[in-house]
Amino acid sequence: MLQSSLEFLRCIRCGSKLELDVFEFDKEIIEGIMQCKKCKLEFPIIQKVPILWDDFSKYLSSRRILGGKLYKLTNSSKLKDFVKKSLNVKDNDRSNLEEKWVRIYQNSKTSKFYSTIKKNLDSLPSSKFVLEYGCSIGIVTSHLANSNELVFGVDRSFSAIQIAKKQFKKNLDYFVADSLSPVFGKLQFDLVLALNVLEIIEPKILLKLISKQITKGYFVISDPYDFDRGPSSVRSPVDASSLRTNLSDLGFKISTSTKKPSFIPWSLKLNPRATLNYKVDFIIAQKS
Ligand SMILES: C[S@@+](CC[C@H](N)C(=O)[O-])C[C@H]1O[C@@H](n2cnc3c(N)ncnc32)[C@H](O)[C@@H]1O
Ligand SMILES: [Zn+2]
Repeated sequence: MLQSSLEFLRCIRCGSKLELDVFEFDKEIIEGIMQCKKCKLEFPIIQKVPILWDDFSKYLSSRRILGGKLYKLTNSSKLKDFVKKSLNVKDNDRSNLEEKWVRIYQNSKTSKFYSTIKKNLDSLPSSKFVLEYGCSIGIVTSHLANSNELVFGVDRSFSAIQIAKKQFKKNLDYFVADSLSPVFGKLQFDLVLALNVLEIIEPKILLKLISKQITKGYFVISDPYDFDRGPSSVRSPVDASSLRTNLSDLGFKISTSTKKPSFIPWSLKLNPRATLNYKVDFIIAQKS
């Protein structure tokens, strides 16, 4: 984590500023703990990756394999104790699943989807604060850092953010967090992205939250509307039409070029013999 990111972070439980204890540093913070002095909640930074989860035990309860790895990866005794203390609850393990998806995204970087999105983003004016939700390994986030002042990516997958953090840029940082938790308090952004996340993060809640983070600026969304996911489906899906209506109701104007639904190919290479081919819709919305 960049030392400079601290000023933009807030305690996700009470909104207070965080204090930082650094154990290992080289250009950026490799290991440390951020603490909210008010409610005493602590957030570890492990292998440069800050984890801003309300309940770290809960985060690890569904990622026990990851928990074991984090325990091995930490060097300072304070952080080792912190991870160990959090390793006692059991749940279905997501670690392998999240690692599998990291591999899929790494193998799918050349999908036409990413070049199309990058080209569209390059046509937007340069922004001061940019945020991407569900950024995974940072394919688009990292590109945005080339032409914008300060760029943040948020994802709940430690494995994904660990890969994203391998690329160092002084104006680019990533956080493990739930997109629906107020990691940045009331900070306003000039550009927010939510690419292919509406099936996993309750869309209407996410849209409302993002709308509050943009007073004047752009909101870029892409999605394949693949909502049929059994028990893990979101409660309130959207489609090309209702998503546009929702955005208009929240005060966004849809750019002329994305008023009509599009079908941009997004190929995910699942393994050498299988590819998942989506056609995604794309929207650039704006508040001015
Ligand atoms: C389908 S992938 C899309 C990745 C990337 N935006 C892209 O288009 O290539 C969804 C991503 O959202 C992340 N994610 C899912 N639920 C989340 C949540 N509640 N908060 C933060 N990230 C979440 C997943 O870990 C995953 O990396
Ligand atoms: Zn707090």
